[in-house]
Amino acid sequence: MITTQKLTGDLADDGWKGASDDCNMENLKNSESCDPSSFLRHFRKSSATPVMLLRHIAQAMATEMQEGLDHPGERKLKMLPTYLECLPTGNERGLFYAIDLGGTNFRVLRVQLDGKEGRILKQESIQVPIPQEVMTGSSKDLFGFLAKTIVQFVSREADLGFECVALNQKRDIGFTFSFPVNQTKVNGGSINAWTKGFSISDGVGEDVVDQLEIALADMGSVNTKVVCLVNDTVGTLAQCRYWNDDAMVGVILGTGSNACYVERAAAISCWSSPPEADDLTVVNIEWGNFCSELLPRTFADEGLDADSLNPGQQEFEKMIGGMYLGEILRRVLLKMAEDTGLFGSEIPERLTKPFSLLTPHMSTMHGDDTSSLEVVGSVIEEAIGVKYTTLATRKVVYDVCDIIAERGARLSAAGIVGILTKINRCGDLMLSCLTTPNDTEVKKTVIAIDGSLYEKYPKFRNYMEDAMKEMLGEDYANNVTTTLSKDGSGVGAALLAAAISTELRLGDVGVTK
Ligand code: BGC
Repeated sequence: MITTQKLTGDLADDGWKGASDDCNMENLKNSESCDPSSFLRHFRKSSATPVMLLRHIAQAMATEMQEGLDHPGERKLKMLPTYLECLPTGNERGLFYAIDLGGTNFRVLRVQLDGKEGRILKQESIQVPIPQEVMTGSSKDLFGFLAKTIVQFVSREADLGFECVALNQKRDIGFTFSFPVNQTKVNGGSINAWTKGFSISDGVGEDVVDQLEIALADMGSVNTKVVCLVNDTVGTLAQCRYWNDDAMVGVILGTGSNACYVERAAAISCWSSPPEADDLTVVNIEWGNFCSELLPRTFADEGLDADSLNPGQQEFEKMIGGMYLGEILRRVLLKMAEDTGLFGSEIPERLTKPFSLLTPHMSTMHGDDTSSLEVVGSVIEEAIGVKYTTLATRKVVYDVCDIIAERGARLSAAGIVGILTKINRCGDLMLSCLTTPNDTEVKKTVIAIDGSLYEKYPKFRNYMEDAMKEMLGEDYANNVTTTLSKDGSGVGAALLAAAISTELRLGDVGVTK
C-alpha cells in the first residue's frame, strides 16, 4: 500500500523552495539585476530537482498509478491495459512481422526465430519517413500509406531468403502504435489522442487495427493478421524480457516519453475475463500525461504548453521528451536575449521561430568538452545565426542546456522510481516515506529503456542513473539495472506476436512469473 506524506518539512529541510521567492522569473524581467548570470541563477533554482523533491514526485506518480487503475479512463494517468497474457520467453520459432508507428518514420520488420538455441536467426526492416501531409491529414491517408508500405515489404520475403509462409497461413504481425490507445483486446483498440506532432483530422475513437486491416484489404490480400497492438514501451519491455526474466519495466526516452510495467491481471478492473487472478499482464502507464504541482515548471514550460497542439496535456512528457527539450532551450535563450541582451542588442531572428533549436543541437552543445566551447559556438552560429559569441555567452548557453537536460533526466528517474514504488521494488530508503514496510523482499529488477535521449545523450543518461542511485541509495540501487533495449519498439512487437502465436498453439497462456 502506498502512503502519502506531508511535503513541507522534508522539502524545506532539503533546501528546495521552488520558484516562489522574490527572485522568480517574472520578477526577474523587471529587476535591475537582470544580467545573464542572475537570470541563470534564478532559472537554475526554478528548475531544481533535489532528491527529496524527486522522492515526492515518485510517490505522487505511484499514487496516481493506483488511482488510474482504480478509476479506468478517468484520471490523468490512463494506465491502459494491454490484455497481454504472455511475454516472450526465448522459445519462440518461426517467421514473424512487426510494424512500428510512433514518430516521424514508419518501419516494417520481419524476424526469423529459432528458439533458445538459435534465438533471432535473421532480421530485416525498412523505414520510410511519414510525409508531413500524412501526419496531419485524414486517417484514411495515414492507414493507406502504412498498408502500401507493408504490402511492398511483404512481397519481398522470398527474395531475401526468409522462410516463406505457407500459402494457406497468415503472417502474424505485432503492431506497435505509440500513441495513447484505449485497448479493448490484445489486438484491438481506439486512439484517444494524437501526440508528438501528429494531428489526424478524424480517427479518434476508431479501432486502429480495423482501420489498418481495411486499408490492407483495399490493397489486395497479403495474408496478414495483426495478433497484437502494443505501445512502444511494451515492445521495449518484451524485447528485454526475451533475454531476461527480471525485466519488469519498459521506458521510452525519445521524441516522446512513456513507460509500462508488469502488473497483476487482477488489478485491471475493466478486464471482464482476466486469466487466473495471480497471472501477470502489462500496463501502459502513459506517464507523459502525469502532472503535479510538485513538477518544477518554469515560464518556458508554460509557454511551450500554451502554444502546443495539445495544451494542458502531456505535462510530464513536455519536460522530458526529446521533441521538447530543444524548444525549451530556445524559449529560455530567447527570453535571455530579450531581458539580458545575451546575444547583444539585437534579438536573433531565428531564435524567435518555434522549434528552430532541436534536442540534437542541445545534446551536441552539451557534449562540448573543448575549453573554449567551440562546438557551442558553431551550433549557435549554425542554428541561431549569431556568428561571434564570447566565451562567457557560450558558457551561459552551455549551462542552460545542462539545467534543462538535468531536470528532464532526474524527472525521468523519479518516474521510474515511482513505478518501482508501485511494484514494491524500491528498497528501504524509499520505505520511510513511500510504502508500508512489510514487503521488503529484494528482487533483481531490470528496467528496459529505449530512445535517443538514453542511447545518444550520455549526459542525460548519466544524470538519470545518478538520480536513481540518489533516490534508492547506492546499496539498493545495485538490485536495479537499467539497460538499453535497442529497437524494442520494432523487434519487441515481432517477439510478442511470436509469443502470442506460440501460446495459442500450445493452448497455454499467462506471463511467466
Ligand atoms: C505517447 C506514448 C508513447 C511515447 C513514446 C507519447 O507521446 O503518448 O504512447 O509511448 O510517446 O513514444
